Amino acid sequence: MNRTALLTLSLATLGAALALAAPVTIRPGESWPDDRGRHVQAHGGGIIKLGDTYYWFGEDRSQDNDPGKRYVACYSSMDLAHWTFRNQVIKLADPDNFGPEWVLERPKVFFNAQTKQFVMYMHIDGRLPGHKSRYSLARVGVAVCDTVDGDYRFVKSFRPLGKESRDIGQFIDDDGSAYLIFESRPTKGFFIAKLSGDYLDVEKEVCLIDAPLEGGAIVHYQGLYYAIGSALTGWAPNPNKYATATALAGPWSEFKDIAPPETNTYGSQSTMMLKVTGPKATTVIFMADIWKPETQWESRYLWMPLEIGDGKLWLPAPAEWSLDITTGEAAIK
Ligand code: DGJ
Repeated sequence: MNRTALLTLSLATLGAALALAAPVTIRPGESWPDDRGRHVQAHGGGIIKLGDTYYWFGEDRSQDNDPGKRYVACYSSMDLAHWTFRNQVIKLADPDNFGPEWVLERPKVFFNAQTKQFVMYMHIDGRLPGHKSRYSLARVGVAVCDTVDGDYRFVKSFRPLGKESRDIGQFIDDDGSAYLIFESRPTKGFFIAKLSGDYLDVEKEVCLIDAPLEGGAIVHYQGLYYAIGSALTGWAPNPNKYATATALAGPWSEFKDIAPPETNTYGSQSTMMLKVTGPKATTVIFMADIWKPETQWESRYLWMPLEIGDGKLWLPAPAEWSLDITTGEAAIK
């Protein structure tokens, strides 16, 4: 390599490192363009981190999707603000005669270190014969892939622990244990259940939190578990709530508001809490969807750093904020 080429390469590398080091701005509620300039389609989503890279999976509701199929998109980022579209990892026609109105929502991906497989859980639904609701099937679906952003293969659908299951959430504890959170309407509760060794099954009930909540999410922060969820009001926002426990199995405290109740969680619904740990701080990001039920592809994201600690959790009013992925620090502008 000649000297000019070497200098150009060094400057490019330095530029990339500086760009990564600089705090980024996150703007809740705005359009979030990906590297192609298209609004990110990762609704009801979840994020996993592999090495230095975050992968965001969610419902892809692009307007030009085939209406007979259901889609999950995957994006990657190293700073949680600049997202590169990787693939529509699920492009699925009705896999099991669920019917034309079948539903695929809230996909979540786990990496299984034993099998080296990526395992996706999703809420699968449809209209059971004689039922009014297209959400009467109430199952989870499982799909697998050997790479994080490859084409996932649908494996099966089932009712976890034999229960009706609608909204799902994922929780990976600090020891790597993987849990599925699912809302079960007849039991009026929020289940936390451990996945099997290969993650292909839901093996064991850890807790049934006795509260009718969906959009379930859990984070472990400074020795306490915090669970959040929303009330059951369809696409309409409502006051999301939180409870705490010293163990996943409970006992869980009573549920309290995470924001002024009259704001209906600032028009959003929880999907996940993401912990970003750096050498200077740990930030817990509240990730939520601002649904646009009639134009789902325009649904927006409300991400804010939570005020959290000592058993309290509070969602600040949405505003532009900055995140420094290298230090873990967040600041509201
Ligand atoms: C609320 C759920 O959280 C969403 O994922 C979706 O299932 C809507 N209900 C459908 O009304």
